[in-house]
Amino acid sequence: MADHANPGPAATPAGRYAGSAAAFERATGSLAGGVSSNFRSGGDPVSLFFERAAGAHLVDVDGNDYVDYVLGMGPSILGHAPADVVAAVADELGRGQLFGGQTFAEVELAERFQGAIACAERVRFGSSGTEMDQAAIRLARAATGRDLIVKFEGHYHGWLDPLLVSVAPPLDVAGPADAPIPHLPSRGQLASSADAVVILSWNDRAALDGLFNGPLRDRIAGLICEPILCNTGVIPAEPGFLEAARALTSANGTVLIFDEVITGFRVAFGGAQARTGVMPDLAVFAKAMGSGFPIAALAGSRALMELTSDGVLHGGTYNANVSSIAAANATLKALGENDGAAYGHIERMGARLMAGLRAEAERIGTDLLVQGIGPVFNTTFGRGPVRNYREYFATDRARQRLFLRALLDRGVRVTARGTWFLSSAHSEADIDQTIAAAGDALAAIG
Ligand SMILES: Cc1ncc(COP(=O)(O)O)c(C=O)c1O
Repeated sequence: MADHANPGPAATPAGRYAGSAAAFERATGSLAGGVSSNFRSGGDPVSLFFERAAGAHLVDVDGNDYVDYVLGMGPSILGHAPADVVAAVADELGRGQLFGGQTFAEVELAERFQGAIACAERVRFGSSGTEMDQAAIRLARAATGRDLIVKFEGHYHGWLDPLLVSVAPPLDVAGPADAPIPHLPSRGQLASSADAVVILSWNDRAALDGLFNGPLRDRIAGLICEPILCNTGVIPAEPGFLEAARALTSANGTVLIFDEVITGFRVAFGGAQARTGVMPDLAVFAKAMGSGFPIAALAGSRALMELTSDGVLHGGTYNANVSSIAAANATLKALGENDGAAYGHIERMGARLMAGLRAEAERIGTDLLVQGIGPVFNTTFGRGPVRNYREYFATDRARQRLFLRALLDRGVRVTARGTWFLSSAHSEADIDQTIAAAGDALAAIG
């Protein structure tokens, strides 16, 4: 397996990826950077082009079949092209897509939310997580008349100016761990975006206490977090941390916002708020609620959500479009069936895979770090447990990249950040095939 030993980021795509390489070359003549999202560029060895997907498998334009743990960056929790969802959308397509008005189906979906999500007294639908995070902080500022939003280093809340702060800051400009300096990652961002955000380290209880007992407390409108951090490793809150955030925000009149774009309908039917037992004032959902169709939601207390009828603007031409609503209703119906049997399966497959990866690492004698929970976990190299962005940053991500490439070469596709998403379509055979490929990949990279 010498050819896999050190593919390197700049390796010329071998025959295996030749079709994708040619397609990417062509794409650069029309699509800016050859892609439609910056997060899809920089693939190793090239940004892949895909032909089709079904269940847990994905096929690229070169005919390579992958066991897929990317799942469209998380959404395809029932696997790709789930029959019930496809049929529900197909049934609706002939009726029209957008009416510039309401449908019964969107009310049905809102009622499903009320049944599933603890904080969902009222709901609004949109098309992306980014815009619903924006709606959440707008509501927080309107409700409190304050300006500051607290967010945590390494958490991602979409690509708009106000929250695209300290997502993956280089450590030489990130300031001290107990008082990180807000970092704006994109050229063209309004510099003042950084002034309206206070950055803390995840799981830093002392800094959280200090902030809510310090001079800025009267300015804090909202605190937003991924309740289980999934955009930097997979890092749960330590026991007591979310509870402290809940208590401090309540006492201070600050709006607690859970960004459940990844965790919603993935880590439990009731989301991370059900899994952790901590209820936010507002929560944002997307990804798993729609099986890959563009849909997102903001849910929360009646008092906050009804501010949308009292001067707080939330709009969107495509909100609650017919096919996305049909997809979400069908997805939530499938996820809720048989007492949430899908979640039992996902947990079991995830646990089997995590255990298998650890066993292979031990057999080979390498320091593969597998951290997270069944529905979503991360692999990198180093010592755990990792508690925050800086500890994750210190893991050996060069070796992580080699591992991910070696997996790809062996028919296993994982996100570029080393995060693995499970679906109800992953079978024991898929998991065992993956474990064997991972053992081979670990041996090859040394
Ligand atoms: C936690 C979290 N919040 C917000 C977003 C942004 O969602 P979208 O890409 O739908 O705008 C993402 C996207 O990955 C996310 O992971």
